Amino acid sequence: MLETYSLKGNAVITPQKIINKGMIKINNKNIEDIGSKADYHIDLPKDTYIFPALINVHDHLRGDYLPKIGPQPGTCYIKCHDWEKDLRVSGVVKERSKISEKDCYFLGAYKNLFSGVATVQDHYPHKINNLYIPELPIRVIANYTIHHEASSHSLAWGDGIKVEHAKAKKLNYPFIVHLEEGFDADYQAGVELLEKHQAFDTYNVNIHCIGFSDQDVKKAKKADCSLVWCPASNIFMYNLTCKIKKMLSAGINISLGTDSTATGSFNLLEEMRFARKIYRKMYGENLAAKKIFEMVTVNPSRALKIQNNIGTLETQKYADILVIKALHDDPYEALIKADINDIILLTLEGKPIYGLPDLEELFTLQETSYTTVSVKGQDMLVKGDPVKLLKNIQKAVGYKKILDFMPLDL
Ligand SMILES: [Fe+2]
Repeated sequence: MLETYSLKGNAVITPQKIINKGMIKINNKNIEDIGSKADYHIDLPKDTYIFPALINVHDHLRGDYLPKIGPQPGTCYIKCHDWEKDLRVSGVVKERSKISEKDCYFLGAYKNLFSGVATVQDHYPHKINNLYIPELPIRVIANYTIHHEASSHSLAWGDGIKVEHAKAKKLNYPFIVHLEEGFDADYQAGVELLEKHQAFDTYNVNIHCIGFSDQDVKKAKKADCSLVWCPASNIFMYNLTCKIKKMLSAGINISLGTDSTATGSFNLLEEMRFARKIYRKMYGENLAAKKIFEMVTVNPSRALKIQNNIGTLETQKYADILVIKALHDDPYEALIKADINDIILLTLEGKPIYGLPDLEELFTLQETSYTTVSVKGQDMLVKGDPVKLLKNIQKAVGYKKILDFMPLDL
């Protein structure tokens, strides 16, 4: 296997600065150096930017299926539990039950991979996802503790708030929980419920927080919690989202997540654009592209307690790299504009997992097991065999199921 190689693009995006005409050198799984050249060197197609691979901090891989389940037209939900009741009796879940759990997991992983995501957090208990994590084409966070949601309707995920939070503290893992995803008294007491169990601090990754009062925002800042913003899912279900401007102004660590496609965006690229659109609609001003970039890279790495390993392009971190077309002079604006067809290369720990056919030699030298697929009319190389996966799914459901987050031409 090739041990060392380097890539050169229009710019390398590091935390300190944007390095024009920069190079990045990869040695095995890690970034060895920013700026030097290896014997095996690739000049990327011109007009490309080299970013850290994206991190999707909130998904439910088992639930990435379509169509969406939502409120009746002209109405919205008051709390997440209302959605869950609709979900359980839906034809979507009935159809999905014909597909193996493993294939569902692969679908969710490919949804993320095709949008430049190399790391995802799957909000399900370990006993569900442990089986599949080692096989999936991207990194799925294995070190976390969990509670379904801080309300009286919570599913029995994990060993309860107190035990799971204590475990997070002991192991330096994130404690992940849906928080205040609703507007009745029960849901809006979510912060108090966590406080009661001494489970509201720097280990928390609190998802949604749409019921937060101004006081809750202050408490979250004081406690140094991380929050997860899923605007597309929130607007679809509740016709509003969290107090994002106040949360950002307070200096809280905010990450952007897609949630599953049952309610959220098709992928993280779409979610970034949605975040900008809804922020402009809510506040009449732009959310800086660099802020959005941070919400899908360095901020989630901090929330998930893996900032020493991923989230930025820095020496010794894993070589999780996303190369995209330079669609704008400002690389961050280019990232917000990027769509599936604008991805040139995605690597996970130095190994290519998705990329242009021009990079086939790198796939071969790095011993990635790959197939060639057509993505919206463009040939791409991808780790594994997502075409076979889709065909399996079509066979299982008995018709030519189209899943828009799987952009393959069959
Ligand atoms: Fe969720």
